[in-house]
Amino acid sequence: MDKIAVLDFGGQYAHLIANRIRRLGVYSDLFDGEINAEKLREYKGIILSGGPQSVHAEGSLQCDHEVFNLGIPILGLCYGHQIIGHVLGGKVEPGKVREYGKASVKISNKTGIFEGFCDEGNEMQDVWMSHFDQVTVAPPDFEITAFTSDCPIAAMQNFDKKIFGIQFHPEVTHTKNGMKILENFVRITGAKKEWSIDKFIENEIAAISEKVGNKKVFMLVSGGVDSTVAFTLLEKALGNERVYGLFIDTGFLRKGEKEQVEGIFKTLGATNVKIEDASGEYFEALKEVYDPEKKRQIIGAKFLEVQRRVFSDMGLNTDEWILGQGTIYPDTIETGGTKHADKIKTHHNRIPEIQKMIEQGLVIEPISQLYKDEVREVGEKLGLPVDLVWRHPFPGPGLAVRCLCAEEERYPEEGIYPNSLNLKEYLSSEILIGHYEYGCEILPIRSVGVQGDVRSYRNPLVLSGGNKNMDILGLASTSVTNLAPAINRTLYLRYPEKIDSITLQKSYLTPSRISILQDADKIVMDFIKEKKIDREIWQFPTVLLPLSINGAPGETIVLRPVESEEAMTANFYKMDFALLDELVERLKSVKGVSAVLYDITNKPPATIEWE
Ligand code: XMP
Repeated sequence: MDKIAVLDFGGQYAHLIANRIRRLGVYSDLFDGEINAEKLREYKGIILSGGPQSVHAEGSLQCDHEVFNLGIPILGLCYGHQIIGHVLGGKVEPGKVREYGKASVKISNKTGIFEGFCDEGNEMQDVWMSHFDQVTVAPPDFEITAFTSDCPIAAMQNFDKKIFGIQFHPEVTHTKNGMKILENFVRITGAKKEWSIDKFIENEIAAISEKVGNKKVFMLVSGGVDSTVAFTLLEKALGNERVYGLFIDTGFLRKGEKEQVEGIFKTLGATNVKIEDASGEYFEALKEVYDPEKKRQIIGAKFLEVQRRVFSDMGLNTDEWILGQGTIYPDTIETGGTKHADKIKTHHNRIPEIQKMIEQGLVIEPISQLYKDEVREVGEKLGLPVDLVWRHPFPGPGLAVRCLCAEEERYPEEGIYPNSLNLKEYLSSEILIGHYEYGCEILPIRSVGVQGDVRSYRNPLVLSGGNKNMDILGLASTSVTNLAPAINRTLYLRYPEKIDSITLQKSYLTPSRISILQDADKIVMDFIKEKKIDREIWQFPTVLLPLSINGAPGETIVLRPVESEEAMTANFYKMDFALLDELVERLKSVKGVSAVLYDITNKPPATIEWE
């Protein structure tokens, strides 16, 4: 099958590019930007992604220069465009202004990559720019094909060698007609459009039969779209008797989830799914554990332990079975953007023991090539219920990573801030100086984030009062985390109206705390369905913090709705305030809840989940 490679230089849109190319019918793989050029020989085209660095910075990501000698068409986007300029003998320099946002670009050569990009009779087009450096001198034999008032080389090409550089981002929807550019590049590479979901299903069913041979597959199912699609594909390939599903009730499921999952498998006619209640064991194993990574390790290991126990209780022979998993593409690849993913959070299907089994060929992951939207399409084609196909992702460790535990209050260590201010004084004065006029308090608890591509475990800041406007809150949130890296998350206080005191109650994972969270989570999930905003929200974690505000009995709920493409990056969802107020009113009725906060942080610097 003809394929196009996307080299990831840490740009937030690298996955999006690969996903868009697939949408155009050509299979696309994402690689670390520094991959050895030899490994790319079989590809029909290479796209160099954007990235946050400067080509001149020490240690900045560079591609293997041999990539330019492979004779394969190349398209560089943003940082990729600058790499082309830098490596092939042009000049890259810091721009006079940081161009960020919409710009109007003039296309001086409307053929090739820009064919059909501008509207009829027009040479201008609205595009999305995000850069500081720019190419100021094109490499020899390159022609300038587009420019803006601030960027004299917004695009360039060497048409004979089929190398194209573009300073703006055609892959985002803010660039009008951006897909046309990608489509033109695909055409220029000559890659045959051989990738489609129908073909994937056909090929994968054959591949499963071959890989599994005469063995059988034992698989953990969660009732989520990934594992259900993987399970259904395995059943299609191997038949009902050779695929066995195990659903483990960890005690950290959503309210009514077990019954719902039972219903799903009944509808699908899957008679070989066993439900195992292991909640007691999970709570026992997590007694007095508060560290998020420890929680994740224990839960991951427990999954395997319960699975093995059920396996042996059923008298199954390990030589005859392999393990099935519903892992998807963004979880499996090691690229610039995801190189550190395992260090940020250990996913339950990537603990060391499973890694070892994968190396020994004892694991089958039928959808490991797919992005989430593709998994959903496979699900639809396989006839799975619409409600199931569109369920929000839910992490394997479930509510355990949304129920924060703590032994004692932890505030950030005081750093040195201008004018001898402490962190809170510094932030509140800066925020006020920035005319945001929000009050602020630091919470004495930590959550996981990703700052500068590495895991962080830091304190959140709560803003209160001020301008009740999500856009302005977003700006304030970004300036907080930029000004003070000791903070990795910002929240907006919704209930009560102001904070006089915050106290932390020593807490671990207990059935009663999970039950409070389940009640709150159910209200939230029912609410977004009722208001028909469940599709525009990509995922909506509800989180419980062991904090009492103003001495009220009970704990604090955090609402964390996000918009995302692939979970690699995310924006906080800007809920309409009238709706949010209505939701907060409903949450006040939950016994054990005494405060409600709204998470206004993007990813990065915060992750979607709190742990
Ligand atoms: P973060 O919190 O890292 O999460 O921004 C990205 C996406 O991954 C989900 N997630 C998990 N999924 N097992 C899973 O199957 C896990 O251990 C796990 N941890 C996080 C998270 O819900 C979000 O969609």
